[in-house]
Amino acid sequence: GADAPLAGRKALVTSGPTHEPIDPVRYIANRSSGRQGHAIAAALARLGAATTLVTGPTQQPDPPGVTVRHVESARDMLAACQAALPVDAAVCAAAVADWRVASAADQKMKREGHDGLKLEFTQNPDILATLSEVGNLRPRLVVGFAAETENVIDHARAKRARKGCDWIVANDVSPATGTFGGAENTVHLIVDGASEPETWPRMSKADVGERLARRIADHLIQPA
Ligand code: C5P
Repeated sequence: GADAPLAGRKALVTSGPTHEPIDPVRYIANRSSGRQGHAIAAALARLGAATTLVTGPTQQPDPPGVTVRHVESARDMLAACQAALPVDAAVCAAAVADWRVASAADQKMKREGHDGLKLEFTQNPDILATLSEVGNLRPRLVVGFAAETENVIDHARAKRARKGCDWIVANDVSPATGTFGGAENTVHLIVDGASEPETWPRMSKADVGERLARRIADHLIQPA
């Protein structure tokens, strides 16, 4: 229908940071607020999609009408995403930690007798690249984000090809823009095969979510 173009479709969205444990009480995280990912999930649900949001720890309320899976680490986020498949569209907006502590301690680490602390890291799985892998559970549309501070379009194009996703939403997160953690976003949509990126005017993250969800609906309702 006109107001629920995604009725009968399934969508998956990742949002927020991940927390990577050092020991049972300490973790490594990043400053992602989850605002953009949560807004996208809310908008997809409003358009009628059965939407699962897999989110790291954030201050955002669970969006209405969305199935929310709360996770902490990148590995947990990947497992929750895989459990949500199959879906028609996946949008990876989470700021997944690139590394985790190679062997997190089972017990709280003690300061006494440890003047310096050295942590060893290992790479986390790439959720976007994993969801983009060709296979029978690959979503028809996989959308990633690229947060860049320079050469935004070129870097985002390279990222789209490297990850194997269909679209990339590129945004400039250089500190002067206030995008990271802020309420507004200026984005460029890079579509597989399209020569020119679409630059959207600066708008709220809620409006970016709304416009992206509309684009996803337009794409999915076309014949495959
Ligand atoms: O490589 P980079 O982190 O810049 O890529 C950003 C995109 O990849 C975002 O869509 C992000 O959600 C996704 N990503 C992911 N898993 C990772 C790292 C990034 O899904 N481990």
